[in-house]
Amino acid sequence: MLLKAILSIALTVSWAHALRLSVGSGGQTIRALLDESTSSPLTKRDDTDPALLFPAHNLSVPVDHFHNDTLYEPHSNATFDLRYWFDATYYRRGGPVIVLQSGETSGEGRLSFLQKGILHQLAVATHGIGVVIEHRYYGTSMPTPDLSTENLRFLTTAQALADEAYFAQHIKFPGLECYGDLSSNTTAYIGYGGSYAGAFNAFLRVLYPDIFWGTISSSGVTKAIYDYWEYYSPIAEYMPAACSTAQKTFTRMVDNILIGKNDPSLTHSLKSAFGLPNVTHNDDFANILSSGISGWQSLNWDPSLSSPSFYRFCDNLTSTTLLYPGTAYLRSSAEDLLTAGNFTPTHDLTAQLLNYIGYINLTQVSRCTHLNYTQDECFTTRDPTQYQGTSWASQTWRSWAYQYCTEWGYLQTGSGVPADQDPLISRTITLEYTSLVCHYAFNRTTPPDTDRINQYGGYDISYPRLALVDGEQDPWKPATPHAFAQGAKDRVSTTSEPFILIEGGVHHWDENGLWPNETTADLPPAPVREAQEQEVEFVKAWMREWRESCAEMGRWWW
Ligand SMILES: *[C@@H]1O[C@H](CO)[C@@H](O)[C@H](O)[C@H]1NC(C)=O
Ligand SMILES: *[C@@H]1O[C@H](CO)[C@@H](O)[C@H](O)[C@H]1NC(C)=O
Ligand SMILES: *[C@@H]1O[C@H](CO)[C@@H](O)[C@H](O)[C@H]1NC(C)=O
Ligand SMILES: *[C@@H]1O[C@H](CO)[C@@H](O)[C@H](O)[C@H]1NC(C)=O
Ligand SMILES: *[C@@H]1O[C@H](CO)[C@@H](O)[C@H](O)[C@H]1NC(C)=O
Ligand SMILES: *[C@@H]1O[C@H](CO)[C@@H](O)[C@H](O)[C@H]1NC(C)=O
Ligand SMILES: *[C@@H]1O[C@H](CO)[C@@H](O)[C@H](O)[C@H]1NC(C)=O
Ligand SMILES: *[C@@H]1O[C@H](CO)[C@@H](O)[C@H](O)[C@H]1NC(C)=O
Ligand SMILES: *[C@@H]1O[C@H](CO)[C@@H](O)[C@H](O)[C@H]1NC(C)=O
Ligand SMILES: *[C@@H]1O[C@H](CO)[C@@H](O)[C@H](O)[C@H]1NC(C)=O
Repeated sequence: MLLKAILSIALTVSWAHALRLSVGSGGQTIRALLDESTSSPLTKRDDTDPALLFPAHNLSVPVDHFHNDTLYEPHSNATFDLRYWFDATYYRRGGPVIVLQSGETSGEGRLSFLQKGILHQLAVATHGIGVVIEHRYYGTSMPTPDLSTENLRFLTTAQALADEAYFAQHIKFPGLECYGDLSSNTTAYIGYGGSYAGAFNAFLRVLYPDIFWGTISSSGVTKAIYDYWEYYSPIAEYMPAACSTAQKTFTRMVDNILIGKNDPSLTHSLKSAFGLPNVTHNDDFANILSSGISGWQSLNWDPSLSSPSFYRFCDNLTSTTLLYPGTAYLRSSAEDLLTAGNFTPTHDLTAQLLNYIGYINLTQVSRCTHLNYTQDECFTTRDPTQYQGTSWASQTWRSWAYQYCTEWGYLQTGSGVPADQDPLISRTITLEYTSLVCHYAFNRTTPPDTDRINQYGGYDISYPRLALVDGEQDPWKPATPHAFAQGAKDRVSTTSEPFILIEGGVHHWDENGLWPNETTADLPPAPVREAQEQEVEFVKAWMREWRESCAEMGRWWW
């Protein structure tokens, strides 16, 4: 019960964590919560609160768009309420509708993009209508009464893409009737999304080219990958070198003990030193130790949105002075563990290990002792009972898990790292461990059907007026068309097919923005500002193409 309570708020607890694409496993979900959370800038309810400025609306949409596909049997003729929000403040006749797909979370978390950031910038520059559209099975956009495994059969990327196409073809924006038809039958539709929603927008353009005039795929993970150990590759490459060295050292020490020595009493000494003697399973233990490293994705160029947890972790791990006096008595245990793990216990390395122990004690162990539960109850991913519950509220852990168990993969393992590389997380974190949620929650023991996703083009996806914008330092870069190290091919960027890498960027850093009264000489940083300026310029060029094609077709309003 404890875990369910924790799991159910994991995605909404902070804005930064709402951006997490994949939580990997139940254990990692809990971890996301236990991480220091940044307070949401969206919770303040004043005159700038977008939830007050932009009321929610629904469009009635078919639950099942594909009556010809046996995957969805038994079929449904029902419809459901797909939620959306819009801002027509800047609209002028002939302008586009710009749809931001909110992806694998409640759309409420994306409403600020109607006020600032790329959606707002595009709406102003093109005199367009800004729209945030929710994804089926998230927020209030629920096609079925609950999220039982059978009812989740309508949660596929293909059905959700069809929802957005249906929306564009059928929407009648309340209050804008006097403008006439604003559906894609007569109006240019531009799509935008980041992360999963970025891949989604790439597919949208390829699958529905007559409905979406152009789309922008930001940090779009167009390549579905079962064992996504490469998640940690950009982190290892771009994180501070001393921190990377320390994390690799301690991970190797832990694996040399857990896997190499495999001696129960030594394993117990290791867990005890970290204050986790009662965590039964080695992989659950190793999972807790990886909590600090997972903060990288939550870095943002806007300090008010960025989570400081990653750099705090690194400052702990690289400090050679003792940060936690309470760990002093563990010095000889730490030296013994370093020796057992094939390292020489120098003064500095021992101090760093003690700081790691103190950090885990502060950020993980202590949160469990407050809760009056056993350590296994707090930290295990291996308890099948924690995956029960199929109410709407279970969407926060269940909906995306279903998507990655069935189609996307992205299980972030240590075991997948090639033998000649040192991993940042333990090799005890295997596919079997990270896919336990698939087994326990959905009775699924076969790998996800990644072909369903990769048929759309994977790394090679391309289309006229499809823009690909990625982050140089994004842990998801290895799943995007900028994954050169993984075999994606470099491209020449053009106005029709922009191909942009944001220098120093992490996860869809072009999506958020600032008000004019918040900008400074350094914020937004030049690479982000330039990417956003380019996006505005190429979308304006796409709109010129639209007007030319309309003129050729003799449409009356030109
Ligand atoms: C939208 O649909 C949801 C779910 O059916 C419902 O709870 C909500 O009241 C509707 N909102 C509006 C504005 O109609
Ligand atoms: C179902 O119909 C759609 C077009 O409506 C088509 O694109 C798709 O390939 C069909 N699927 C199957 C399984 O036949
Ligand atoms: C859906 O409607 C069609 C046409 O009316 C009907 O043939 C079919 O049986 C219905 N399917 C379901 C699941 O109700
Ligand atoms: C747009 O065209 C489609 C297909 O012809 C049609 O089903 C739909 O009703 C039209 N939408 C509007 C708002 O007229
Ligand atoms: C571990 O379990 C033992 C035996 O149940 C208990 O006495 C001890 O307090 C537990 N330690 C922690 C840190 O949970
Ligand atoms: C160590 O980490 C904790 C928890 O994140 C943080 O509060 C503290 O400031 C860090 N210490 C240093 C020296 O960075
Ligand atoms: C762990 O944290 C607790 C406070 O939550 C503290 O009392 C204890 O001394 C710490 N243990 C170590 C080894 O740092
Ligand atoms: C902690 O657990 C004990 C034993 O189950 C119980 O008696 C006690 O009420 C619990 N305390 C809290 C604060 O839940
Ligand atoms: C789980 O899946 C297996 C294999 O598909 C099936 O035989 C079994 O009945 C399922 N169990 C439940 C509880 O649905
Ligand atoms: C900054 O600008 C926004 C948008 O114009 C406005 O709503 C907000 O009140 C301004 N904030 C301050 C502190 O002036």
